[in-house]
Amino acid sequence: MVPVTQTFRTHSPAETQALGAVLAQAVQPGQVIALVGDLGAGKTTFVQGLAAGLGVQGRVASPTFMLANEHRTPSGLRLLHIDTYRLGDAAAEASGFGMEEIVDDATAIVAIEWADRIAPLLPADHLRIEFFLAPDDEDVRELQVCASGPCSVLAMEKLAAAWSA
Ligand SMILES: Nc1ncnc2c1ncn2[C@@H]1O[C@H](COP(=O)(O)OP(=O)(O)OP(=O)(O)O)[C@@H](O)[C@H]1O
Ligand SMILES: [Mg+2]
Repeated sequence: MVPVTQTFRTHSPAETQALGAVLAQAVQPGQVIALVGDLGAGKTTFVQGLAAGLGVQGRVASPTFMLANEHRTPSGLRLLHIDTYRLGDAAAEASGFGMEEIVDDATAIVAIEWADRIAPLLPADHLRIEFFLAPDDEDVRELQVCASGPCSVLAMEKLAAAWSA
């Protein structure tokens, strides 16, 4: 299918977290969320909101140094938060520790920072969120959300409807 894109603009870290929390209500288990953008673009900030929206208790830290963090929601759902930044040959290394199985896990929501580095391993139907810094305001981010399959299109439609409400 032709990917569908929608752009969201946030004006603070808290607003980026709020958008993540709204996405939590829009996704189903099995959803893969590919996060793309430079250092400090807001990927971890977004996942903090996603986790909060899923009801995850406790701190959501950047997984840069541990590669993957697993969180549990009160209903027993897992949020897998992955960061591929420190992988050398990212796709090969991620494949080596079973990334295909992780992104194929229908019982987890999987959020991956620096996801473009493992692009060949991502499922066809995933939500890609690319973060852009505004040139004129350090607190503004533009988030380009791209849906590439039926599940992610549905999630994006729900996100857009709830965000504009
Ligand atoms: N609108 C905004 N949304 C998100 N973060 C913002 C915003 N405005 C300012 N910031 C700041 O930008 C930084 C984003 O950091 P964050 O760790 O989320 O980025 P990241 O994309 O995960 O980076 P890395 O690639 O290093 O993991 C934070 O310091 C945050 O306070
Ligand atoms: Mg990060």
